[in-house]
Amino acid sequence: MEDLKSKIDLKKLPKHIAVIMDGNGRWAKKHGQPRVFGHRNGVQSVREATEAAAELGVEYMTLYAFSTENWGRPKAEVNALMTLLVQTIRKEIATMNKNNIRLTAIGDLKQLPSKSYKALLEGIENTKNNTRMTLVLALNYSAKWEILNAVKSLATEAVEGKIKPEEITEATFDDALSTKGIPHPELLIRTSGEQRISNFLLWQIAYAELAFLPIYWPEFRKQNLYQAILDYQNRERRFGKTSDQIIGSE
Ligand code: FPP
Repeated sequence: MEDLKSKIDLKKLPKHIAVIMDGNGRWAKKHGQPRVFGHRNGVQSVREATEAAAELGVEYMTLYAFSTENWGRPKAEVNALMTLLVQTIRKEIATMNKNNIRLTAIGDLKQLPSKSYKALLEGIENTKNNTRMTLVLALNYSAKWEILNAVKSLATEAVEGKIKPEEITEATFDDALSTKGIPHPELLIRTSGEQRISNFLLWQIAYAELAFLPIYWPEFRKQNLYQAILDYQNRERRFGKTSDQIIGSE
């Protein structure tokens, strides 16, 4: 494990890693347990991923914890996930402060159950001065919702005469998203073997490298993050240019 970690080029770390934590239900089933058992065990993987990223010096990590589509799950599972969220945030605030990690969130947060919303706001408030890494929880998040919101707010500004349509650029659009101020992820990891984006950060991942890991989220450990970063570092990021242009500019 140390070996994998020591191979990482710390000068070429992704600044922002986004993670689709998938496969909790299937992992639980594999162990003959209810789905919630998978979510509970997924919390340890959240710790491992966060700790490993912070130790390396990754600046932002965004975890897809609850999508807008997840409301369609059985009520008991939704309730269990919301309770787990409150418990985990409350429990981990001290550790986040000890490790200098700032918590923040993206998504339609006001629509969360009031207990979850309150715990989230407390976590955000209590960690707001931390500077080592920002942990972004995507909660009641949908990229299409976020993009539509950005379009609506820019359209409103245009109607009010605050901005001209021709003044709308990638940068102004970025600032209208809930990830305002956060650099785009260079690496997106999805566990469980599924190879989909599932309405996550659609605008922001335009040039992200994608890593689909054949393990369930509760199995995710630090070495999985190290391996994903090493694979990312061994790929050539061309942004639409040719190999020669990239090598020439290094
Ligand atoms: C996906 O597995 C996982 C989720 C929808 C929830 C993720 C939540 C946690 C790991 C726990 C709490 C997290 C935080 C940040 C406190 P799935 O249920 O879709 O699995 P399946 O595809 O096998 O059914």
